[in-house]
Amino acid sequence: MIIDKIREVQKMNLKEIIITAKSLVADDKGLLAIDESNPTCNKRFAAAGIPQTEEFRRSYREMIITTPGLGECISGLILYDETIRQKKKDGTLFIKAITDMGIVPGIKVDVGAKDMAGHPGEKITEGLDGLRERLREYFQMGARFAKWRAVIAIGKGIPSRGCIEANAHALARYAALCQEAGFVPIVEPEVLMDGNHSMEQCFEVSEEVLRTVFRQLYKQRVTLEGMILKPNMVLPGLTCPKQESMDEVADITVECLLRAVPAAVPGIAFLSGGQSGELASARLNAMNARFKSRLPWALAFSFARAIQQPALEIWHGEETNVSAAQQALYHRAICNRAARQGKYIVELEKK
Ligand code: 13P
Repeated sequence: MIIDKIREVQKMNLKEIIITAKSLVADDKGLLAIDESNPTCNKRFAAAGIPQTEEFRRSYREMIITTPGLGECISGLILYDETIRQKKKDGTLFIKAITDMGIVPGIKVDVGAKDMAGHPGEKITEGLDGLRERLREYFQMGARFAKWRAVIAIGKGIPSRGCIEANAHALARYAALCQEAGFVPIVEPEVLMDGNHSMEQCFEVSEEVLRTVFRQLYKQRVTLEGMILKPNMVLPGLTCPKQESMDEVADITVECLLRAVPAAVPGIAFLSGGQSGELASARLNAMNARFKSRLPWALAFSFARAIQQPALEIWHGEETNVSAAQQALYHRAICNRAARQGKYIVELEKK
């Protein structure tokens, strides 16, 4: 009897999770990641000449969250453990302000990519210990989706099978725990852009990584309809002398995804990975313009830097710059919504 009740609750949970997953990629919107850990946020602040304190991190995030019209383009905001507990100056919890705008709050739950023992140059993402309890707390706070990022580097002799398998296994264990707790897992296996590798090498590694991730998700009994994949685009390394065109990147990225991502997944939301805001929008646009009507999943965005960077530079830690910074943030959000529709044009950047 009790078992039947548990099954019933699990089914209800899953229904809700599937609805949330679909809503995150509905209406040509996408996700905005403001889940930089304190060290990463401080690094970005230091580069922009902004003091690295909790109060500056709080006011920066308040500037983003209160951007007028943000909900027109952004379906979900990814927070960090510090941020989810913070409030606006008027005392409203960020998470309440976000929910009131009709945006779904999410939370980064991995605790970072650490050097992998026995695998020089490779990382393994940690954070599974105690995750069930942390998820319970975040759910009570109002978060409804979560994020876990695995990092795969391309270089001499890497990535190794050991690194790919360990990271895929951790992603799948995390995703299963998320669904148990009522969360949509954002599954993020990022193949890094750093290096001089070719676009073809990135294709091979990305395909292998994605196939391994989905094999593990299946083994861990993750419901694919209730998750979002957050992959890299297939790109040449940053220092590769040959940099392919927008259309070539669009073609090879979609080819890779079609080979490795089951049609049951409702949405694919790309990370930007250090591309400029303009390039990330233009490449996403090329994919949607060329393939949108023929794809089983939505092609969306879950950018951090490619949406935030101009706003961060304009804000510069000063109250008087808030409105101009918000306009810059809104602009990038609008460009990415247009890219989801295949309607992004460079002229939009001049507006
Ligand atoms: P970028 O878009 O800056 O790569 O960040 C996406 C993200 O959330 C990384 O986990």
